[in-house]
Amino acid sequence: MKPLNIGMIGYGLMGRAHTNAFRQVSQFFKLEHRPVLKAVCGRDGVKAAEFAANWGYESVETDWKALIARDDIDLIDIAATNNVHAEIAIAAAKAGKIVMCEKPLGMNPAESLKMVAAVEKAKVPNMVWYNYRRAPAVTLAKMIIDEGKLGKIFHYRAKFLQDWTINAEVPQGGPGTWRLDASVAGSGVTGDLLAHCIDTAMWLNGSIDSVTGMTETFVKERKHALTGKKQKVGIDDASAFLARFSNGSLATFEATRYARGHKALYTLEINGEHASLAWDLHDLHRLQWFDHRDSSLVRGWRSIHISDGDQPYMKHWWIPGVQIGFEHTFTHQVADFLAGIESGKPAAPTFRDGLATDYVTDAVLKSAKSGRWTNVKKA
Ligand SMILES: NC(=O)c1ccc[n+]([C@@H]2O[C@H](COP(=O)([O-])OP(=O)(O)OC[C@H]3O[C@@H](n4cnc5c(N)ncnc54)[C@H](O)[C@@H]3O)[C@@H](O)[C@H]2O)c1
Repeated sequence: MKPLNIGMIGYGLMGRAHTNAFRQVSQFFKLEHRPVLKAVCGRDGVKAAEFAANWGYESVETDWKALIARDDIDLIDIAATNNVHAEIAIAAAKAGKIVMCEKPLGMNPAESLKMVAAVEKAKVPNMVWYNYRRAPAVTLAKMIIDEGKLGKIFHYRAKFLQDWTINAEVPQGGPGTWRLDASVAGSGVTGDLLAHCIDTAMWLNGSIDSVTGMTETFVKERKHALTGKKQKVGIDDASAFLARFSNGSLATFEATRYARGHKALYTLEINGEHASLAWDLHDLHRLQWFDHRDSSLVRGWRSIHISDGDQPYMKHWWIPGVQIGFEHTFTHQVADFLAGIESGKPAAPTFRDGLATDYVTDAVLKSAKSGRWTNVKKA
C-alpha cells in the first residue's frame, strides 16, 4: 500500500471525526493508499500536541502555511472554522496538495468560486465533507431513486433541528460558539444545517431552480466570547424555504437552533408517484419505505434495518443484524475519495458540488432579505 501523508488543520469535533476515518479506512476497505497521520495543525501548540499524542499524529504545526509548505504532506484536510476554508484551500491547491474541506465550502459563493477555480486549475483531487450522503440508508435511498422505483417525484421535504442557542446568555464567537459569529461562520443555520439538507437533496433529486425563504434572528444581541462586549448578532437563528427542483418537484426545507428538545434532528422525505422514502438521522441505520404497488393486504410503511452485506457499505463492517453509525459516514467518504483518486473517477461531492450548495444557501438568504422568489445560479 502506498502511504498518503495527511496534514489536518483544526482539531475540534470534525478533527476527531476525520482522524477517526483516516485511521479506520485501511482496516475496513481495500485501497491502494494508506492514510498516514503525518501532522495536525492548530494555533494552540500545547492542545495540538495533546491531540497528536491521543490520535497518533507524528508531528504538530501551529501555522497552516508551514504545514502546506512541507514536502512530506500529500493531502491537506481542512477541519477548521468556515472563515479560513478559502485561504487554506487555495494555498493548498497552489502547492499541488490534494484537498479535502469541511462544509460549507466558503463563507459565500464568491469565496467558493475562487476555491473551485484553484483546485481545478491545479488539477488536484478535491472533496467537501458532506458526509450524510454516505449514511448507508441515504445511499440506499439514492439507489432506489436512480432505479426509478418512486416514479415521478412530487415532493422533497427536509429539516434539521437543534435547540442549543435558545438561551440569550450563550455568547457569540470563540471556541464552541463561533457558529453564532457571522464573521467566522458566514451565515447561521442556512450555511451550517440547511447546507447539509441541500447537498443531500440535490444528490437525490437533482438541481434546485428557485427558492423563496424566510429567516429570523431571535436573539438580536449577544456578548462576544473574545471581547466580552455585547454585539449585534449577524447570523440567522432559523431559516425556512420553499424550493422548485428542475424535475418539477416542490420542496420545503427548515432549520433552526430553537426547536426545544431536538439536538440534531435531520430528517428527509421524498414522495413519488409510486412510492415514498423517509430517513431520520436519529435512527440513521433505518430507511422508511412505502410502495403503493404492494398488495393492499400488506401495504404499509416498511422500516428497513440497514445491516446486510448487500446494502451499501455494509459488507465492509460486521455481520448482518449489526448496524453502524455517524462516524462511519466519514470513513465511507475517505474510502470513496481514495478509490476515486485510484480509479481516476473522482468521487463527489467535489468543490464544484459544494459551490452548487453555496449558490442555493446564498439564494435563500437573498430571498429572505428581498421577500421574493430567487433563481439559483448553476455551478
Ligand atoms: N460534516 C459535518 O457533519 C460537520 C459537523 C460539524 C462541523 N462541520 C464543519 O467543520 C468545520 C469545523 O467545525 P467543528 O465543529 O469541528 O468546530 P470546532 O470548533 O470543534 O473546531 C474548529 C477547529 O478549527 C480550528 N481553527 C480555527 N482557525 C484556525 C486556524 N487559523 N488555524 C488552525 N486551526 C484553526 C480551531 O482551533 C478548532 O480546532 C466547520 O467548517 C463546520 O461547518 C461539519
